[in-house]
Amino acid sequence: MSKKRPATSPGERAVMGPDPATGPDMLSGPGRREPARPGSARPGPDRPLYSAGSDLLEVQNLQVRFRQGGRDVWAVNGMSYSLRAGKTLAIVGESGSGKTVSCRAIMGLLPKAASVAGSVRFEGAELLGLPDATMRAHRGTDVAMVFQDPARSLNPTMRIGIQITEAIRTHQAIDKNSARDRAIELLKLVRIPLPARRFVEYPHQLSGGMRQRVMIAIALACHPKLLIADEATTSLDVTTQAQIMELLLELQQDLDMALMLISHDLGLAASYSDEVIVMYAGRIVEQAPTQELFAHVRMPYTKVLLQAIPRLDRPAHALLPVVSGRPPDGMSLPVGCSFAPRCPSAQERCARDSPDLEEHEPGHHWACWYPCEDGDSE
Ligand SMILES: Nc1ncnc2c1ncn2[C@@H]1O[C@H](COP(=O)(O)OP(=O)(O)O)[C@@H](O)[C@H]1O
Ligand code: SF4
Ligand SMILES: [Mg+2]
Repeated sequence: MSKKRPATSPGERAVMGPDPATGPDMLSGPGRREPARPGSARPGPDRPLYSAGSDLLEVQNLQVRFRQGGRDVWAVNGMSYSLRAGKTLAIVGESGSGKTVSCRAIMGLLPKAASVAGSVRFEGAELLGLPDATMRAHRGTDVAMVFQDPARSLNPTMRIGIQITEAIRTHQAIDKNSARDRAIELLKLVRIPLPARRFVEYPHQLSGGMRQRVMIAIALACHPKLLIADEATTSLDVTTQAQIMELLLELQQDLDMALMLISHDLGLAASYSDEVIVMYAGRIVEQAPTQELFAHVRMPYTKVLLQAIPRLDRPAHALLPVVSGRPPDGMSLPVGCSFAPRCPSAQERCARDSPDLEEHEPGHHWACWYPCEDGDSE
């Protein structure tokens, strides 16, 4: 293999991964399945949407700015949300909306050129501004991240067993034999058949889905309380994608982790989540418990994302509704609503004033002057 071994250890790569490739433009790209409907947000036994308990993660007014060619690129513009232990939050939006950058800010994985402001509290402790070594420890014990492309995340020249045991030994002071036993346990946990045989294989001997399972095993090596899956199934075929999503949910329940599903695919992310955040141009534009969101979509942008998902009740070969144009670039955000240049419902006020994200109905936040009403044409 001609690929150079990455400088980082597998343990660090599990949380860092490669630079995530951006997914296809959601408004014009193919969707794959019916969106979640009320009552079908989560497979398995009904779970309360908001159980009592404290927040695991609290993000307040998160802002990320890059300095580029003497100008500022605003990638994240004041995001606030929280996530409780054991819950699943989906963050959706087109490519470039700030999903990955906002997660990397939580992980302390942004390049030095990024300025980060606001507050990110994990179990009550502020993370922003911590020294690098403390952030590394946080990544090693509290939070792990799985990225889109397992082929690029794994070292092609190392047997997968070694990559997992290295990850384990990065986080735990245990001998090689115990690490091997634990690695095989992790391979079983992520439902890899014949784990002892797979242990000695190389990444190219595994399918894409199996490689992503290995990446998940590496991410789990540190017993994270929060697992962030950033487009983790985007490069996989539909069947494998569903299997990996089911696996993530089972693991989440078995290990009582919180899960953040980052995706350009509203149907996919929302089908598996308790709550959905929709991002546009670095801001949250709509946020609600999943069932509420699908029952009462308010933002025209969310509606467009929803309409872009192919549905069985549309005529075969019908063109998906799309909205032309692209999101604004972070160097020149419009004065008013960022979506105004593309919004089918825009009126004069939209180009002038920027709507704030507000809780207009219990648990349901949106940022729009002229929200959709129930029953607006689909
Ligand atoms: N290292 C960087 N330097 C400058 N701009 C960046 C950098 N990384 C991301 N951005 C910009 O930040 C914005 C958000 O990017 P990202 O979070 O990757 O989007 P998403 O994950 O939603 O596709 C994009 O406009 C992107 O170009
Ligand atoms: S504020 Fe106006 S432009 Fe923005 S989403 Fe709402 S209707 Fe569309
Ligand atoms: Mg991304």
